[in-house]
Amino acid sequence: MRIDIITVFPEMLDGPFSHSILKRAGEKGLVEIVVHQLREFARDKHRKVDDYSFGKGAGMVMMIEPIEAAINWLKSQRDYDEVIYTSPDGIVFNQHEANQLSMKENLIILCGHYKGIDHRIREHLITREISIGDYVLTGGELAAAVITDSIVRLLPGAISDETSALSDSFQDNLLSPPVYTRPADYKGWKVPEVLLSGNDKLVDDWKLQQSIERTRRLRPDLFQKYLAHSEDEPGHSETR
Ligand code: ADE
Repeated sequence: MRIDIITVFPEMLDGPFSHSILKRAGEKGLVEIVVHQLREFARDKHRKVDDYSFGKGAGMVMMIEPIEAAINWLKSQRDYDEVIYTSPDGIVFNQHEANQLSMKENLIILCGHYKGIDHRIREHLITREISIGDYVLTGGELAAAVITDSIVRLLPGAISDETSALSDSFQDNLLSPPVYTRPADYKGWKVPEVLLSGNDKLVDDWKLQQSIERTRRLRPDLFQKYLAHSEDEPGHSETR
């Protein structure tokens, strides 16, 4: 998979991809993440990428030309499955979206800034608009990093225990069960007995029960999705 990120602040993305799972995924050849400076596609000598907005309203708007030039230059080299724009008014990102994007071959992510991008780019060049939550960041770079991280960790081979990505919170519209490690008894704070039983069936049933209970209590919205989904799928575990 290849992910091209277009931004006016490439340095903001230096850190997130050079550690841990993302770094290893790159080294293993599972993903190539390439960050592009939008200003390099600006035509004037000042490398201008934003301009005043038409109509009333303060704030600069990102111009069409450099963005179109960057996207077209990338598209001239390979086909892209999606051209994503990160914006607080996009569709709110979730695990389902991450799963879908992880199955694509080539993605472009355009990071928004200032008051946003000229709307014609959204109408003609962008295929998916993503928000990472109902709050406003200073720019789309952190959102691009979050989206990229959530996708890359799903690529087969990115995580050494390949079952662990599938058992993440949200994969079944359920939160993860609690986890514990040694010591089994820390100053009287004990690990639930069942986890020490060695009985896989009991352990699996307990984990599912905990997931269901935590989701019902902490995320009633997600719990409704889980219930609706388990009605659609007769084989879906039902221990409620
Ligand atoms: N840019 C600014 N805020 C954002 C958000 N919440 N999600 C995605 N991109 C953004």
